[in-house]
Amino acid sequence: MCGIVGYVGKQKAGPILLDGLKRLEYRGYDSAGLAIHQRKGLTCVKKTGPVINLFKETEKCELSGKLGISHTRWATHGGVTTENAHPHVSSDGLFAIAHNGVIENYQSIKRFLLGNGYTFASETDSEVLVNLISYHYRKETCDTDKRFFESVRKTLMHVEGTYGIAVVCVDYPQEMVGARLGSPLIVGIGEEEYLLASDVSAIISRTQNVVYLKDNEVVSITPKNFTISTINRESVDPIVDQVDWAIEESELGIHSHFMEKEIFEQPVSLENSMRGRFSDDGSTANFGGLNLSSQEWRGVDRILFCGCGTAWHACLTAEYLIERFARVPVEVEYASEFRYRNAPLDKNTLFFAVSQSGETIDTLAALREAKRKGFRTLAITNGVGSTIAREADGGIYQHAGPEIGVASTKAFTSQILLSAMVALYLGRLRDMSYTDGCAFAKALKQVPELVARTLEQNEKIKDIAGRYAGYEDMLFLGRQSMFPIALEGALKLKEISYIHAEGYPAAEMKHGPIALISDKCPSVFLAPKCETFHKIVSNIQEIKARTGKVIVVTSEGAEFPADLADDIITVPDAHEALQPILFTIPVQLLSYYIAVERGCNVDKPRNLAKSVTVE
Ligand code: F6R
Repeated sequence: MCGIVGYVGKQKAGPILLDGLKRLEYRGYDSAGLAIHQRKGLTCVKKTGPVINLFKETEKCELSGKLGISHTRWATHGGVTTENAHPHVSSDGLFAIAHNGVIENYQSIKRFLLGNGYTFASETDSEVLVNLISYHYRKETCDTDKRFFESVRKTLMHVEGTYGIAVVCVDYPQEMVGARLGSPLIVGIGEEEYLLASDVSAIISRTQNVVYLKDNEVVSITPKNFTISTINRESVDPIVDQVDWAIEESELGIHSHFMEKEIFEQPVSLENSMRGRFSDDGSTANFGGLNLSSQEWRGVDRILFCGCGTAWHACLTAEYLIERFARVPVEVEYASEFRYRNAPLDKNTLFFAVSQSGETIDTLAALREAKRKGFRTLAITNGVGSTIAREADGGIYQHAGPEIGVASTKAFTSQILLSAMVALYLGRLRDMSYTDGCAFAKALKQVPELVARTLEQNEKIKDIAGRYAGYEDMLFLGRQSMFPIALEGALKLKEISYIHAEGYPAAEMKHGPIALISDKCPSVFLAPKCETFHKIVSNIQEIKARTGKVIVVTSEGAEFPADLADDIITVPDAHEALQPILFTIPVQLLSYYIAVERGCNVDKPRNLAKSVTVE
């Protein structure tokens, strides 16, 4: 949420910042702005709306400076106005800041600053922060070469809340200061240039060498070097990581939207998630980074999965998979609820966080709460070097590649697949036989190919989508492990097409939601070949009797009665436990094509941003 890019080096900062912002736009698109250190001082340009608006605005000015900060905003404090857009400049014009996060004690600081002659042009907490930096700067008596850094450091000691910041000062044409607490910030190390960014995608075109800052670390960057220390002045030995993405992975290529690209990437992303993770004898899964011995795994009596949104749906599928194959009880909680619920947990509970970005603040807080209580914590995340990845005791990287579309797609199927592999691994440590293990591992290896075959239905699904794009309500229904997919289908549809949609267990329909059924509210039924297939067919008949239109997603071997549904999408047969992955593809495509048909901005749905780093 909110994206920051900072640059200092030999090139003109403007184009580099704009390119970075464009790549970070999925973190927020309410407004964008930049502040560049020019010969005559700080030039600040801001504009509401997407980065392209800022781009046009900057064409009107001369931007030649080689040091600058920029920001793309997802509004928290204050409406979407130019005044509230970042960067914010201190009222004396000395400093500019780009800030991601929330300063909780901003009101008391603001009162203090008003009493000291500072004035405010915006409603934001960030403007309070930049003025407090100026206040400390004026009082600072240390050596000139430290004065800027020290004033930022001292300011942060008075701040409650979260921040990832990049700050520039009129008096320091060669230096930028950054810091983080709770909101991500990385340092990019280029050739005679350094960058700050909220995530790797912003700077991947310039460097693959990055340092992931930790909470309470402050960094100073110049064209020649960078130094990191903690807020308490302890020096930090930076660890430089190499990002293994290719630049093309974060570009659209032939696709119209990132969501479309990422849906179609799933055969590859699933293959990558599995790569190198099966045992030599083919009967179980292997994970490098779990940091848990077989004996410790055997001691686990219960697993608690936590996540938000789509990741929470993946947690629900993990429950079915792990309970089925490993017979270990699993509980699933919304991370945002768990962190404040003070839930009683058995002592042998293992905590599993699931998060695509690895930065979702609620999931991170839930993980920290579990750790604080002394529980062993693991994570499934796509965010290499992310805060959740670093703070969990161990975990599994998804290797699904960058997910840029705001609606999560390929990360979701990868999370289900990896949960299935955890179920296999844990099952084999318990009662699952060698033969059953081999059979399930074989089924897992077939998934990418089956997903590719499912994607071949896209033209048919597009056609169906065209006929359903005019509705304003829709139900998604499925039983057992298809219930989380029904929830996911409803979430995808509502978030990108703004159609009201609900996901329900199909048999629950009669306990209330059936009242919604009419010719104005179609239903999407997920009806794979399974134990409850005939029950689902009865549920569909109940809807048809009430004039509701029905789209059925079914599997090849199920032999769904052709005349019962208005539209049928058939996916290949797969191992029953893995069918949720295949059934996800049609609901993703259906939502995508409906949103396109309605003219919605698929990759930038209203009010949303990827990576929710504020509460
Ligand atoms: C929905 C979506 C969100 C995220 C949620 C958690 O399409 O993308 O619901 O799943 O914000 O994000 P991560 O997985 O990054 O923790």
